[in-house]
This record gives sequence, structure tokens and C-alpha cells, in this order.
Amino acid sequence: MIKQLIRVGFFALFVFQDLSAQNQKPLYLDDTKPIDARVEDALKRMTLDEKIAIIHAQSKFSSPGVARLGIPENWMTDGPHGIRSEVKWDEWDQAGWTNDSCIAFPALTALAATWNRDLSSLYGKSIGEEARFRNKNVLLGPGVNIYRTPLNGRNFEYMGEDPFLSGQMVVPYVKGVQSNGVAACVKHFALNNQETERHGVDVIVDDRTLYEIYLPAFKAAVIDGQAWAIMGAYNKYKGQHLCHNQYLLNDVLRGEWGFKGVVISDWGGVHDTKQAITNGLDMEFGSWTDGLAWGKSNAYDGYYLAKPYKALIEKGEFGTKELDEKVRRVLRLSFLTTMDKNRPFGSFGSEEHGLAGRKIAQEGIVLLKNDRSVLPVDLKKTKRIAVIGENAIKMMTVGGGSSSLKAKYEISPLDGLKKRVGKEADVVYARGYVGDASGNYNGVVTGQNLEEKRSAAELLAEAKNVARSADVVIVFGGLNKSDFQDSEGNDRKGLELPYNQDNLIKELVKVNKNLVFVNISGNAVAMPWINEVPSVVQGWFLGSEGGNALADVLVGDVNPSGKITFSFPVKLSDNSAHSIGEFPGGKTVNYSEGLFVGYRHHDKSKIKPLFPFGHGLSYTTFEYGKVTADKKSMAASDKITFTVAVKNTGKREGSEIVQLYISDLKSSLPRPVKELKGFEKVTLKAGETKNVSITIDKSALSFFDDKKHDWVAEPGDFEAIIGASSANIKSKVKFTLQ
Ligand code: BGC
Repeated sequence: MIKQLIRVGFFALFVFQDLSAQNQKPLYLDDTKPIDARVEDALKRMTLDEKIAIIHAQSKFSSPGVARLGIPENWMTDGPHGIRSEVKWDEWDQAGWTNDSCIAFPALTALAATWNRDLSSLYGKSIGEEARFRNKNVLLGPGVNIYRTPLNGRNFEYMGEDPFLSGQMVVPYVKGVQSNGVAACVKHFALNNQETERHGVDVIVDDRTLYEIYLPAFKAAVIDGQAWAIMGAYNKYKGQHLCHNQYLLNDVLRGEWGFKGVVISDWGGVHDTKQAITNGLDMEFGSWTDGLAWGKSNAYDGYYLAKPYKALIEKGEFGTKELDEKVRRVLRLSFLTTMDKNRPFGSFGSEEHGLAGRKIAQEGIVLLKNDRSVLPVDLKKTKRIAVIGENAIKMMTVGGGSSSLKAKYEISPLDGLKKRVGKEADVVYARGYVGDASGNYNGVVTGQNLEEKRSAAELLAEAKNVARSADVVIVFGGLNKSDFQDSEGNDRKGLELPYNQDNLIKELVKVNKNLVFVNISGNAVAMPWINEVPSVVQGWFLGSEGGNALADVLVGDVNPSGKITFSFPVKLSDNSAHSIGEFPGGKTVNYSEGLFVGYRHHDKSKIKPLFPFGHGLSYTTFEYGKVTADKKSMAASDKITFTVAVKNTGKREGSEIVQLYISDLKSSLPRPVKELKGFEKVTLKAGETKNVSITIDKSALSFFDDKKHDWVAEPGDFEAIIGASSANIKSKVKFTLQ
């Protein structure tokens, strides 16, 4: 009897244990366990085929998960200004969904021009919510390639010419996106500063320039922003394509910066299986199949990291060490995103996102010139406003390449103005010039009919009549998102405004001197008529709420507070790369201007720009006090704080961006005259004064010593320079590094 009882007891225990084992979650699904342990557990369970499958695409924008284990697919989306509409599985054509119209946010150039870290965070959070709602777990953006030349067709997707500013602005964006359980994929790493020959050009750059100019924004995104993904660039460095580059991916990104995230190829950026195995790449997207099946559907098995990789493993040329590393990183991406059950659900096309876009646009708009206070348009004295130019009506959310959007709505500048001033003044419109009447990108059509049969002379005559009869003339011109303008794939052909706009502006200002030129672009343009035109506004590509935000600023509901993040040269040869003929290169492009990019070049060569880096006006005025330092001399482990009083001396509230530049007065290696190392945006009521303090440490004094391969801060004298722009210096104070 007792024996029997014992036997029953054992049996019951056995059944209970077995049931509880069945109820127990496998380790990889147990989110109370550390991610690394979960990754190892999932990895152990995967077959070779499953491992190979998850490191390359299965469609234009997705890669498989591990269906058997319940690990979801990865879905990518462009990026960086809104969530791209759905394309077909195997083609770029529209899938034809009716629920994928997003909020278009302002271009990153506009975001950077706010110099407002909180707005970058708002941007990241909002676009991340849109991505999350659309079930995308990787956002292909933001982009932080440095503005080397005003001809780069993709400058509008980036944050300007200064590494420090780009680094400061990219971090909150990344964190904001990722707070939604969506990975930010920072792009295009690195040295992707032109579109000409983008798939093949080999960039020659010295180490100092690489580390001081072209890498810091990426480093900030990786180290301070903790980005979960990074995209390799199309071009080459040291003869190797950057999607599988020993130097930048293995040595710098993973070795020096300790990057734990995934490296995703740019679409079609992989060229070699062995290099893709060993040189830092994790996920391959957008490849064609070796030319064998150009555009053939379901050709993903032919990807460099698909069958060809497996064959090398089977032949014994490679073990699975590299593969397991890649798989670990892809799994980690899943655990941080799709498999995080606590992540929010997101939201899409919401009013809140529209308002976020409007706020960013308002603060990004830059008042470049405002003589005779033509702006803001005084609605008490203005009966008629002439609006002229194609860019007053042309939709700008469609076009430009991969960042093109199917926006839920887009307020044009003309509509924005009409809505705002409708009852107070007449708004009369004339086209003035014809740029590009088309409006189609991969099947997203604007639906606008911009066909125009009249001749250029007729359009000019009409515009002059309209201008003559108005109190103020606002010309919306600039570039657009068509090929060879602000658009992926090609660079601009020159600095000039296209479509004979210079002539239009010159003619209009003859008949009405109250002329405002609003430059819609992501790049600097030449302004040969600048002395005749009293007011110029940099209007960027501002997304869904663009027209509203522009109206807000033009009539003065909002006081402009943006500052440009790249120099406007008078002429192309005033730009350093062009002055030495090092653009666009051929098979190679030599960055022999070195560190002297943007204002660093203008400072060194004493070439006056049309508008300097950091420049932007307000409808009020600011007066700066004298900058002081909290110590005269600092130890290498110290921090030092500079303080300056800023007073609003005008009649209305406004915000000012106070810039701190550091100048190394004597150094063993040549250094730029000064470099941006801090900034604060401060809002002041009329008459109000505030002290603005900026603290730095020795990293702000350091340069990259290529012989030592390290950052060095040399003891000696430095100068802290406070400016309202890189050319409008307010005061300086000397200090010493011990
Ligand atoms: C672009 C990337 C983009 C990708 C996917 C590429 O051509 O360079 O920026 O994310 O396409 O659309």
C-alpha cells in the first residue's frame, strides 16, 4: 500500500513537472530575462536556413522573422520626414493602400535650423508614433551627412555643415523615435556627401577630417543617442564600399564606439559576399541579383547574404561565427522593437502630429534679410498682397527620391496665406515662371494640374501687373524636388536659381520695391539681386503644415527664430570643395579642403559669405552683454562655464540662438579659426534680459591627432567667442587649459 502510494506520488510529481515545463515560457520569450540571454536562447533554436533568412530582405522593405518560433518580420520604412506609403512586395510601384497617407514633417534641414533640442525630440517622438502605428519597426532616418557642397542633391535630408550642431540635433530625434519601440536607422554612414557617382565614388579624406568633420554626428547618434541601427552608405572609402567596410564598420563603429545595433545596407549597396560576411554588415536590402534577374520577382535567394553565403558555409570557406554575430544583432533588434510587449501603439495622421510639424516649421523658418522692415506684413496697412511663383502652389511632399511622401494633406504657401489674411487683405496670385509641372514619384501623384500654355514673356507680364497693383509682393521660388535639384540620385548643376527666376525677381522689384523672396529649398542658392530685394526668407521644405507655418511668420503671428545651418556662398567658387575643383571628382573624390568646410573655410580664407552659418534675424532685436568665464584657467578634468546676458531690446517677444565658438590660440596642428561648441536658444519678452550659460569640458578644446589616433587637448590659451552667427561676433573671453 505504502509502495503504491509512493508510486502514485511520483507519478503525480512527474505529470506536474511536465505540465509546468509546458507552461513555462522558453527563455527567449521571457521578458523578465536580460536581452542577451534571450538572444542566445533564440539563436540556439534556429536552423542554418533560418539564420540566413533573417539577414536579408524578403521584399522591398521587409525581412523575415523566424515564423516557427514566433519571432516577427522586420519592416523598414523611409524616413526621414514621414512614413513612406506602401509599395508592392517586389516593386517600387504603389501598393494602392488607402490608409497610408501620413503627416509630412519638415525636412531635417528645417529641423536643424530651429537649433531647438526639444523640437528634435518632439519630431522623433511624433514620426516614431507614425511608424509604430503603421507597424514599421525600423525608421530609415535620420540622415546626418555633412553639407560639403551646396550642389548635393540630398542636403535637404541632412542637418547642415557643422558636426557639433548635427550631433546635438540628431540625438533627441533618435531617442524620440526609439521611445516608441521603433529603431532609428541613422544614415548614410559615412562620407556620403554627393549624389554624383554615389554607388562607386571612393572618398579620399585624411583621418583628422574624417574624425573631426564627418564622423561626430554619427558618433553622437550611436553613443549618446544609443541608436539601434545604422545604414551603410553607397559610396566607397579606402576602396571598399561602405556597406561592407572594414575601416568604418568594424574598426570605428564597432571597435571604437562599441555599437551593438544592426548595420543595414543601403538599398542595393552590397557588392560582395565575402566582404559582406566579414566587414560589419548585418542586413542586406535592395540588391538586385547579380544582373542575372534584373527586377525579377522573389529574387531574394540570390542576395549576397542569401544562397551565396550559405554555399560558402557549406563549402567550409566560412564557419558560422560571423553569421551568428549577425543573427544575434538582428534578434536583438526584434527584442527591442517588435517583441517588446510594453511598447506603445503609436498613432498616425493625427492633428497632434500636424501641430508638431507646424511648430517645428515655424521655428525652423529663417529670416535672412529684412531691410525697411517689409516683414512682418502689416495687415493694418496692407490691402493687397501679390503672391508670385510656382513654389507658392507646388506640392513639395512628393518627389526628391526615397524621402518622397504620400501626405494626408499639404497646405501650400498660397493657401496658407489666403486662409490667414483672407478677410483682411486681397491675395492675388501669378505663376511668374514654370519650373516642373509634373508631380509623380513612384506612382504617388500630387493630382495637381500645373500645365501652363502661356509663354515666359506672358507669365512675366502678368506677374509684373499683379506686383504693381499690390502693397507687398511675396515671391515663392527656390528649388523643388525634381531631378537635379533637391533630389536623390543626382546633384544640382549650379548654385543659381533655376527656371530664370533671377530675371523674374529683378523685373518684379523694379515695379514694386516691397518685395519678399521666400526661398523654398534645402540648399543655398545664389542671389545676384540681393542688394535690390529688401526681405529674404529661407522657407525650406516644410511638409504638411508648410503653408500655415510660412503665413504665421510672414504676417508676424510667429516671430522668426531659426538660423541657417550652412553657409550661403556668394558664388560657387567661394565654397571650399569647389574652390579647389574637388567636386564631384570621378572614380575618386578628394576632400583635400580638409577641415575647412563651410564657415571654417570662410573664416580661414576671409571670404565673406552671402549669409553666414548661424545667421537668422528676428522681428525684435537683441543686445548682448560681455561674456564672462567662471574661471580663468581650467584643469583637463574641469568644466568651464561661460555666461552672457542677452536683452530683448525690441517691442515684441522673441527667441535668440546664442552660439559659443572656441578658438585655439596656439596649437601644434593647424586648426579652424573657431568652431561651434555650444548653443542655447533663449526666449525673451520685450525688454527682458536673461543670462545664458554654456558649459564645456576639454572635449570642446580637443582636436584629433592622426599620428596618435586620439583626441588631444593641448594645454595653452583658448578663446570663447559668443556670436549671434559665425560672422556676427558679440564678445570674447580668454581662458587657459592647464
Ligand atoms: C536611399 C536610402 C533609403 C533607401 C530605401 C536608398 O536609395 O539612399 O536613404 O532609405 O533607398 O528607400
